[in-house]
Amino acid sequence: MHVRSWQTAYRGLLFDDYLDALQPEEWAQRYTFADPQATNPLTVLAVEGSEICGLATIGPAGDGDQQAVGELIALYVDPDRRGLGVGRALIQEARARLARQGFAEACLWVLAGNEWAERFYRLDGWSPDGCRRPAKVAGYSVEDICYRRSLP
Ligand SMILES: CC(C)(COP(=O)(O)OP(=O)(O)OC[C@H]1O[C@@H](n2cnc3c(N)ncnc32)[C@H](O)[C@@H]1OP(=O)(O)O)[C@@H](O)C(=O)NCCC(=O)NCCS
Repeated sequence: MHVRSWQTAYRGLLFDDYLDALQPEEWAQRYTFADPQATNPLTVLAVEGSEICGLATIGPAGDGDQQAVGELIALYVDPDRRGLGVGRALIQEARARLARQGFAEACLWVLAGNEWAERFYRLDGWSPDGCRRPAKVAGYSVEDICYRRSLP
């Protein structure tokens, strides 16, 4: 699901050859399926029966100087289930969990050009903070845009 969501969301933003070659088996190895530790990223799943409909990964913000800031590290919904409220349910749960972990503010990074996601985040109360950062995806240069919101 994670790979298929990437392949759909980033078609036209990242190179086709790279997207088409993504291997679900390799991506699955990123997940430890172990007991969560407070300092590790945590992935929340939306499920219907035994099927995974979407995921949200949260953790402390990457920057060491942002100790009070949590991060929405990833949010991906099954391409066949978009527009059905899965993303909204996941982002609400992600925010609630970050708030319970003591974060008063959260940030996320969205790939420049992912206008669908930017609109979705704005609807959920996030705003761009003006920061952009260059990033590399499989050796390709891209740019990420930072969004923020408070966690009441
Ligand atoms: C962005 C994403 C997480 C949203 O999840 P979703 O389940 O499709 O969205 P929801 O059904 O919960 O919709 C929530 C709101 O967003 C709006 N929305 C959903 N799809 C939209 C679209 N294609 N264009 C514009 N707005 C859209 C809905 O209108 C809804 O608002 P409303 O209830 O006021 O009508 C999902 O589409 C996705 O996985 N996209 C690809 C991966 C991605 O880009 N992730 C973000 C990486 S930073």
